[in-house]
Amino acid sequence: MLSYILHPLQPFQSIAHRGASFYAPENTMAAFQKAVDLGFDFIEFDVRLSKDGHLVVIHDADVQRTTDGMGYIRDLTVQEIKMLDAGSWYSSEYTNERIPLLEEVLKQFGGKIGLLIEMKSSENQPQLTKLLSDTLIKYIDNGIKPSTLKVQSFNINEIKKFHELTPTISSGILLEKPLNILHFQTYSQFASFLSVNHHLLSKSIIHQAKQYGFDIFSWTIKKQYQFQMMQRLGVNGVISDEEYQETNGTLLT
Ligand code: G3P
Ligand code: CA
Repeated sequence: MLSYILHPLQPFQSIAHRGASFYAPENTMAAFQKAVDLGFDFIEFDVRLSKDGHLVVIHDADVQRTTDGMGYIRDLTVQEIKMLDAGSWYSSEYTNERIPLLEEVLKQFGGKIGLLIEMKSSENQPQLTKLLSDTLIKYIDNGIKPSTLKVQSFNINEIKKFHELTPTISSGILLEKPLNILHFQTYSQFASFLSVNHHLLSKSIIHQAKQYGFDIFSWTIKKQYQFQMMQRLGVNGVISDEEYQETNGTLLT
């Protein structure tokens, strides 16, 4: 196991970006199952609120790119969302794929693979944060281990709220702009990890982040050399997609 050779004492997590989105349409049950089959530790996926107040799994605010429909998720009911074909844009093999509900993912994959859930920003963000917290607590009460769940967002205020509502689940901040270490002290009060655009990482930044107790995950890793560079820097895991997923199974299992 390559990660073991490079960092024998440090657990390293392989995270499939939007599921195994190189092999199957992103953020679908097929992509999540493929990630399980490939031996990933976690799947990363995005959640948004439908018009009728359900958490649905989709990256974009609107359905145009990844389905045969049009419109914003916030303007569509679950009944309307479930009529959409979320697989044909990728390949005719996946014509029957639908946009999953968060609860469907929790039922099917909770406990089988780790779930890294990204709260996407929206006008109804406060409701989303509270509903996500309530939903995850319900599934923890039903037996899913908190250690198999992580929640992240670019929205720092909402991550703070999520942590206050759900301190047993690891929460993290997504960062895509140069890191300001002066914020680390504040972030460490409600976040246990930082998910960082890999271009922004250096040994020094990682060292300082670890002084505050953060785990560091880097995204989005597309090539094997990027993966190896991240391991040398000492990150705790990588969120990967595209060509890199071709070799992920052989490198990490
Ligand atoms: O987990 C990192 C990554 O998912 C953040 O970017 O746009 O793919 O949600 P995006
Ligand atoms: Ca995401």
